[in-house]
Amino acid sequence: MAEWTEQDVKQIREWDEKEHPRGQPNNAGQFVEKSSGNRKNQGAKAWNNDLTPRGQTDIPIGCTKIGYVQKELGVSYERAQEYVDAIDAYADNRYSAIRAFQQGQSVENQEEISKISRDIEDYIKKAPRWNGGETFRGVGLSDKELQRFTVGSEHDMKGVSSWSNEITIAEDFANEYKSYGYAVIFHSPTQNRGTAIRHLSKYPGSSGENEVLASKESKYKVLKRETDAYNRIHIYLEEM
Ligand SMILES: NC(=O)c1ccc[n+]([C@@H]2O[C@H](COP(=O)([O-])OP(=O)(O)OC[C@H]3O[C@@H](n4cnc5c(N)ncnc54)[C@H](O)[C@@H]3O)[C@@H](O)[C@H]2O)c1
Repeated sequence: MAEWTEQDVKQIREWDEKEHPRGQPNNAGQFVEKSSGNRKNQGAKAWNNDLTPRGQTDIPIGCTKIGYVQKELGVSYERAQEYVDAIDAYADNRYSAIRAFQQGQSVENQEEISKISRDIEDYIKKAPRWNGGETFRGVGLSDKELQRFTVGSEHDMKGVSSWSNEITIAEDFANEYKSYGYAVIFHSPTQNRGTAIRHLSKYPGSSGENEVLASKESKYKVLKRETDAYNRIHIYLEEM
């Protein structure tokens, strides 16, 4: 993305998708790598578009979340609003329903949850790929669940999943869920199908969750397991 100027910030609401290079008729599809066929086999490079991978980012003062997404992704104001709303709904209190829906369970307001789920996945695919270093996810697992995570075993996260680039955030979540059985912290050095959302979060800035959202299509292999001094289980993953 080009550097933000004052002009950008002022004019952001008038910005039009058609003006983005991807919106020009002659450029249609030029940012999508099509040569290698099946998306599954294309790896991280093809997952994302032309945007430069990045870590967490901040929205320039005077610019709105919607305006930022509109410019960064080259989408219409209305589409940017749908993305921002979907991420808001997920992070606020819909994450359980969205993940349950993605696991094939029936949920209340199925149609609405289905749209939010689609919008989140679409946003992750279009947004800059995460390249801000190691990410952590804190969960609570029962003994039976934990036993599935043997070295060499392969897992998804049962839907779109929240990670943080700050280990203390994941530790807090793991501790919170300790009543499930074990406080577990997943470590992943990459999130090739994930994107930073701190700038869209209700808890932005350095005191926030530094959240990274990983697609439901993310898959990981267990490399190593360790127990720390507080009896928390650290599961080191490698993305597949
Ligand atoms: N968990 C984190 O480390 C983390 C990091 C940043 C932000 N957040 C925010 O916290 C809120 C809650 O997110 P969350 O991740 O705790 O909710 P979640 O619904 O993904 O996880 C809740 C519980 O579901 C179970 N679960 C989740 N993934 C599992 C798996 N792969 N296998 C077996 N059981 C699994 C665990 O018991 C887990 O504690 C969201 O608003 C999110 O944005 C969480």
